[in-house]
Amino acid sequence: MTNDNKTLGFATNAIHEGYDSQEGKIRSLNPPIYMSSTFAFNSAEQGADMFAGEAEGHFYSRISNPTLDILEKRLAKLEGAEAGLSFASGMGAITSICWTFLKTGDEILCDKTLYGCTFAFFTHGLSKFGVKIKHIDMSDAENVKAAINQNTKLLYLETPANPNMRLCDIKAISAYAHDINNAAKGDVKVVVDNTYCTPYIQQPLAFGADIVVHSATKYLGGHGDIIAGMAAGNADDMLRVRIEGLKDMTGAVLSPMDAMLMMRGIKTLEIRMLRHSESAMKVAKYLEAHTAVDQVMYPGLPSFSQHELAKRQMSLFGGMIAFEVKGGIEAGRKMMNALNLIIRAVSLGDAETLIEHPASMTHATYTPEERALHGISEGLVRLSVGLEDAEDLIDDLKQAFEKTQRFIAEGEV
Ligand SMILES: Cc1ncc(COP(=O)(O)O)c(C=O)c1O
Repeated sequence: MTNDNKTLGFATNAIHEGYDSQEGKIRSLNPPIYMSSTFAFNSAEQGADMFAGEAEGHFYSRISNPTLDILEKRLAKLEGAEAGLSFASGMGAITSICWTFLKTGDEILCDKTLYGCTFAFFTHGLSKFGVKIKHIDMSDAENVKAAINQNTKLLYLETPANPNMRLCDIKAISAYAHDINNAAKGDVKVVVDNTYCTPYIQQPLAFGADIVVHSATKYLGGHGDIIAGMAAGNADDMLRVRIEGLKDMTGAVLSPMDAMLMMRGIKTLEIRMLRHSESAMKVAKYLEAHTAVDQVMYPGLPSFSQHELAKRQMSLFGGMIAFEVKGGIEAGRKMMNALNLIIRAVSLGDAETLIEHPASMTHATYTPEERALHGISEGLVRLSVGLEDAEDLIDDLKQAFEKTQRFIAEGEV
């Protein structure tokens, strides 16, 4: 898709990249969904050539599929990558990448705070195969410089981190990794989970990261109707992940039907992220001013300890907020149970505003001791601000806090 050589904008690419409705006889506005596990060969020789990688074309949907192709090109364009890759879930993407690039004896250097199942996969899964997991506080990039060594193969981080919103400086961390690569002919790869931001808000590859990964279940899908994952990076890395991690190790292949739903979601990514961010700022300010709230973690608030880094690295501040209710987890639970409009559910990035308690839900994969070590407090509440009217969300929170205060006054908390 071109526009007389003019560079197209983010929203235009999100709608058009990878598919031209004028091509072919049918001219359908939306690309076809190729619900086909296999594809016919013109001849036995052509089949052999395709298997040998000497002829192009689709031949089995665990390797590639024309509908997935369009989605993968579209995400690559939005992330500023050479190539994209789709998966059956975010965990499918993360595990496929790790199985591709790690072997026994290698080390992953990762941030202290990670999504619960990523943490579980690293510490309970990969470690069983002799991969060393070293958690460091990457919110200070200097710690990366001190910890990186010749066994380090992946630097892995989320920014903002799920659930406590800690940020990492992608540019500084990537620069350390690449200095090591240049000095010692290493092959350290920086992998950034960009689920909370999406490429509309933050483009990790532009800051020097090697691979960006998503739980596309969240903002990329945007409607709470699919489980999906995506990755983007250079063409060689993505080909290796496709052929090694995805095809032969996890088999975590996205369904063409779900690829179509994700493409539908991505068409409105820009306007959704604008709205999520605008509403989250209003809700965060409301929470910060509330006497029942102890602490609000939202990168857009001047009080957020890494607000300056957020301004450098993120074009908006996103739809995710973490906060602590005074009175700890019991008060937090009462408040969550008193909500009428906001939905008690895990996941995030949907049109509906969702609230959850990480310590007992998404981050229950950590032991209480691990949560304390990794900066996830027991009372933390996670809010994914949706697309409803911000005023309605604030009204719902207000009545829930009032009810909670009554419970506290009556000695129920
Ligand atoms: C930051 C982050 N990364 C990865 C995942 C895993 O994605 P999925 O649930 O699509 O497998 C999640 C899921 O909540 C997440 O929040």
